[in-house]
Amino acid sequence: MTTFDLTGRKALVTGGARGLGAGMAEALARAGAAVMIGDVLTSLGEETAAKIAASGARAGFVKLDVTQEADWVAAVDTTIEKLGGFDILVNNAGIEVTALVVDVEAAALRRMLDVNIVGTLLGMKHAFRAMRPNGRAGKGGAVVNIASVAATIAFPAIAGYSATKSAVDRLTRVAAMESGKLGYGVRVNCIYPGLVPTEMGMKLAADVVAAGLFASPEAAVGAIIEQTPAGRLGEVADMADAVVFLCSDASRFITGAGLPVDGGMGM
Ligand SMILES: NC(=O)c1ccc[n+]([C@@H]2O[C@H](COP(=O)([O-])OP(=O)(O)OC[C@H]3O[C@@H](n4cnc5c(N)ncnc54)[C@H](O)[C@@H]3O)[C@@H](O)[C@H]2O)c1
Repeated sequence: MTTFDLTGRKALVTGGARGLGAGMAEALARAGAAVMIGDVLTSLGEETAAKIAASGARAGFVKLDVTQEADWVAAVDTTIEKLGGFDILVNNAGIEVTALVVDVEAAALRRMLDVNIVGTLLGMKHAFRAMRPNGRAGKGGAVVNIASVAATIAFPAIAGYSATKSAVDRLTRVAAMESGKLGYGVRVNCIYPGLVPTEMGMKLAADVVAAGLFASPEAAVGAIIEQTPAGRLGEVADMADAVVFLCSDASRFITGAGLPVDGGMGM
């Protein structure tokens, strides 16, 4: 057994139906955790959970819109009832709306603030309530919030998105401080993923072309790789492994930290 082993832990991964979240849920399960996927995409979420269950792990799906407080209450209840506890929350659900500053639309910006910031904070609220001593799960735990390299660089056409991810960085630090000071026993960290060619990542590459910034999606991706010391895009597994580390006892003295997982792009 290694300190990365998550046998016996119970995890909820938001936005786990596809993309990075699905990879994180699969990696947590491979490390031994039971996993609940929470997402707005019901059939895809159920499919991803079934795939994980088919590999022999305990896995389930719960409908969760992270902007809705009632959904959070139900998702935490379901996690505790179906998995028998709640030790790990991965706040991964997020959206990205590309726009030059001169083209920002208030409604789209507010929706992004709602999902990326309010959704993440509500997740921590309900995780803390459940995981702290005398909470319904009551054994402490680990929260990993998914920020972005966008919080650490200046890339054109993502001002609003970058702002939401900078917010995730700060709310991670404050939540870690509160958890420590108030004795909740919950470590809180975040990661800053570099660009990964998920649906979101590929749409971003197309959107910056539409904004007139690059001649083609390939040129946009090339520019990002050019700025990345590791010389490649990120892969889902790169992010998933970092999340497993931050959920595991291997990171037991790490809280309030932000880990770049970006091949060095955000130096
Ligand atoms: N892909 C990248 O390049 C990249 C880089 C840095 C950070 N990130 C962040 O990683 C996270 C995952 O990104 P991805 O690339 O997998 O995106 P994706 O669009 O492929 O998947 C996002 C998932 O979140 C779900 N979701 C969206 N709104 C939701 C809501 N209100 N409630 C619950 N679920 C919701 C979607 O249904 C989807 O399953 C996001 O927070 C994103 O900002 C992605």
